Amino acid sequence: MAPRFHELTLADVRSETVDSVALSFEISEDMKDNYAFTPGQYLTLRAEINGEDVRRSYSICSPVGSETLDVGVKWIEGGRFSDHAQRLKPGDKVQVMTPQGRFTAPIGGAHDYLLLAAGSGVTPMVSIATSVLEGEPDSTVTMCYANRTTDRVMFREALDDLKDRYMTRFRLTHVMDEEAQDVELFNGRLDAEKLETLATRGLIHPPSYHAIYICGPQPMIEAASEAMKALGADEGKLKFELFTPSGAPPVASSRTIAKDAVGAQVEVIVDGASRKFEMALGTMLVDAATRSGLEIPYSCANGMCATCRCKLTKGEAEMLQNFSLEPWETDAGFVLACQVQPKSAAITLDFDAV
Ligand code: FES
Repeated sequence: MAPRFHELTLADVRSETVDSVALSFEISEDMKDNYAFTPGQYLTLRAEINGEDVRRSYSICSPVGSETLDVGVKWIEGGRFSDHAQRLKPGDKVQVMTPQGRFTAPIGGAHDYLLLAAGSGVTPMVSIATSVLEGEPDSTVTMCYANRTTDRVMFREALDDLKDRYMTRFRLTHVMDEEAQDVELFNGRLDAEKLETLATRGLIHPPSYHAIYICGPQPMIEAASEAMKALGADEGKLKFELFTPSGAPPVASSRTIAKDAVGAQVEVIVDGASRKFEMALGTMLVDAATRSGLEIPYSCANGMCATCRCKLTKGEAEMLQNFSLEPWETDAGFVLACQVQPKSAAITLDFDAV
């Protein structure tokens, strides 16, 4: 079933830090199956703001089995949705897409996980850590969490609570780059040098983890991934999620027309139904679909989240940018609809393909 929006009611809105809130959604009995999730997945929230359909993805921070479905929203200067979120209150109705994302830690078995997070990139890590520690009694979680200052540490209470509850299985290291801590090792950025020092001091053991999850801004992810590989971690065990909460592209996106792109007749297949629309040269597919009254699944519109993943089953097309599909997927013909530029007069995109 393709991702879809439902209207959920806010049960609670809590201030997390000076510039972030946690939103808790009620999940009624009849919506429980739709909103079942794997730790690490995200929700896309949607609102009409000044007449525009604005969507933003926020990772789920509540653990599996929680009564409510919670996300953390960090305020971003000029961020239309994050502004809107700060004004939400309990009882408000919000359009919420069913959980998506492949930055996941399925629960079951015994694992040793390393979680590397920066800023609001900690949000999925809170769900992963809590779900793993609660659901896998023989697993351990080591987390390194970078912030500028203490008052920007999201989910501080929840993390402290985990430390108290799982003293022998949860190890948490805070790293701050604008606030001196007692231990010099914990000052600075979570960059390659810091990770190497943490490994040398025995606080992390990159070759030994079943998986290493990395979430934060693009430069941090790149530096941490390279450092983990250099420190002996198997590349196949690295999982990362680009976190660009403003919804801005993680790198400058020229949005120029792809070479050889053409206007095209587009057929899309969603939940077994086929619809067709025209896509003019130079337009984006999700915009063309919306103009023709067709709802296709998308969230970030920047190639990061893969909510719009579909298979090109007819014609030719290329993507402007791709930060989420793996090489095997592009080899198999999967594309990101939000980035597609047709190169033949007719293309077909199948959103039901797996
Ligand atoms: S909508 Fe996020 S990658 Fe296309």
